[in-house]
Amino acid sequence: MTIKFEVNGKPVEIDAPADTPLLWVLRDDLDLTGTKFGCGIGECGACTVHVGGRATRSCITPISSLEGASITTIEGLDPQGNHPVQEAWRNQQVPQCGYCQSGQIMQAVTLLNDFPNPTDADIDGVMGGSLCRCMTYIRIRKAIKEAAVNMPGGETSNGQN
Ligand code: FES
Ligand code: FES
Repeated sequence: MTIKFEVNGKPVEIDAPADTPLLWVLRDDLDLTGTKFGCGIGECGACTVHVGGRATRSCITPISSLEGASITTIEGLDPQGNHPVQEAWRNQQVPQCGYCQSGQIMQAVTLLNDFPNPTDADIDGVMGGSLCRCMTYIRIRKAIKEAAVNMPGGETSNGQN
């Protein structure tokens, strides 16, 4: 089938079987290799991207469900890689091997959209399904809390812009 959607603000047209997972279109057709393959069954979060602003596991998202969708990958989060979540990730030196981290960041961005000042329980509830074999969870939590302060509408930006 032929399907049209948007990736990182650019229109794309893909001709592939309807059940082709979005992950492989991103990586193989569009060369957006920041999105990773982990489990392939929706269990680890390594392949997380945004579809319509929601965290979505691209390994189990068939392209047939994406006509007209707006998709954002880690490459499209910020043109310079300076989204407040990415900055906090660097400040807290979160990654170890790095493999799971683009999925973690994409999930964290939607967490902060839903919970601008997240508690530990909020973080655990949303991030709990994003697995990290290097056990970077404590640094992830710190980075999310730092990003919460620096996101638009966060504590330091209130009343300043
Ligand atoms: S690779 Fe998609 S959730 Fe694990
Ligand atoms: S940083 Fe290695 S798997 Fe998460």
